[in-house]
Amino acid sequence: MKNNQIPFASHSKTFNARFQLVNLISVILFFGFGLCFGMILTFHLKNVSFNLQFTQFSLSTDTEIDNHDVFSSPPPPPPKIRLENYIHPTEVMHDLSDRELIWRASMVPKVAEYPFDRTPKVAFMFLTRGSVLLSPLWEMFFKGYNGLFNIYVHTSGSPSNWTEPEVHSVFHGRRIPSKDVEWGKVNMIEAERRLLANALLDFSNQRFVLLSETCIPLFNFSTIYSYLINSNHNFVESYDLPGPVGRGRYSSKMYPTVKITEWRKGSQWFEMNRDLAIEVISDTIYFPVFQDYCNGSCYADEHYLPTFVTRKFGGQNANRTLTFVDWSKGGPHPTRYLRYDVTKEFLEKLRGDMSCEYNGRSNQACHLFARKFTPHALDRLLRLAPKVMQFNP
Ligand SMILES: *[C@@H]1O[C@H](CO)[C@@H](O)[C@H](O)[C@H]1NC(C)=O
Ligand SMILES: *[C@@H]1O[C@H](CO)[C@@H](O)[C@H](O)[C@H]1NC(C)=O
Ligand SMILES: *[C@@H]1O[C@H](CO)[C@@H](O)[C@H](O)[C@H]1NC(C)=O
Ligand SMILES: *[C@@H]1O[C@H](CO)[C@@H](O)[C@H](O)[C@H]1NC(C)=O
Repeated sequence: MKNNQIPFASHSKTFNARFQLVNLISVILFFGFGLCFGMILTFHLKNVSFNLQFTQFSLSTDTEIDNHDVFSSPPPPPPKIRLENYIHPTEVMHDLSDRELIWRASMVPKVAEYPFDRTPKVAFMFLTRGSVLLSPLWEMFFKGYNGLFNIYVHTSGSPSNWTEPEVHSVFHGRRIPSKDVEWGKVNMIEAERRLLANALLDFSNQRFVLLSETCIPLFNFSTIYSYLINSNHNFVESYDLPGPVGRGRYSSKMYPTVKITEWRKGSQWFEMNRDLAIEVISDTIYFPVFQDYCNGSCYADEHYLPTFVTRKFGGQNANRTLTFVDWSKGGPHPTRYLRYDVTKEFLEKLRGDMSCEYNGRSNQACHLFARKFTPHALDRLLRLAPKVMQFNP
């Protein structure tokens, strides 16, 4: 029996061990099946709920769509940032600080060839104290030329001084983040740099013109566009003037960055190409000197750009302004034109009373814009513009 028992016992031990192994395997298999089943079920449920969401979305946006088609259509593609968003920002409002904005705007593509059709545009930059008062004239000027220009408006004073133009206006949504500007102060240049930097964000802007709310165009859009786009020069007025309102405004504290012989004067109203605009906003040598020593009765707006541009980029400068203004009556402010000053003869005289050099040849128009026109002159300007300036004949 002992003999028997032992084998039996040993047999039953082996049997027990086998039984446990089988048990273990079945538990593992059962667990595995359970896991697989669970996974498959979750996946299916997800699909169903996704399809449901998709159906709801489609139904709410387009009620005419067929239910059966919806179930078989692919899911919508995830939103993409297209090249357009980088090269032509459609919104001009942002929350960048001046330092952030200037840094972003100073970027230059290293690859010279554009991977898209680049139609060069003119950036019309309005530096104003409020709304663009002569906007109906400008609306008439821009009509029909979408795609060849961009508008930027910097308004100082309180934002309440700016009335947002109606949706169809070319000025709608074109006010950039603005700060206060005081007459003659260095913050005027800060505003000009802010305008340039905002306009540089759009890679299609090739020429940049600074205008005030009292400026008018003297020619139609096509003439002004081709004059600017085809020019080999920048138009930053610059001359050396002895006496109190010229060299007299120089401070010896600017030495040695700016020497008295390099000190220049000129009109604030400039026109320049993209390369120079990038250099102007990127200047960290001359501008700080003007911020420190030309803030007040020095009138930085009449000296900073003429001095900086002549010193660094004089060769490409025409040294004249494209914006006519009449200083002949003397005093700190130029002549303002009221309603009865605006006649056909007067406008024709502004368009062609002088001859100027353009791309090395003479007898071209000297001025493309003129100031200072008051809103009282608007009705006459609107009436005369189609005939005299040949706006949309
Ligand atoms: C508001 O706009 C008007 C008209 O452009 C201007 O005369 C006035 O100075 C502006 N106010 C401020 C606070 O800038
Ligand atoms: C624009 O004005 C010029 C003269 O400056 C004229 O020759 C031309 O026909 C005008 N163009 C259009 C499209 O009105
Ligand atoms: C320029 O002067 C104004 C007031 O006179 C002052 O508020 C401003 O901080 C000055 N700007 C600089 C850069 O010193
Ligand atoms: C403008 O002035 C600069 C510096 O004096 C000179 O190099 C340049 O040739 C001038 N431009 C023209 C068109 O004469």
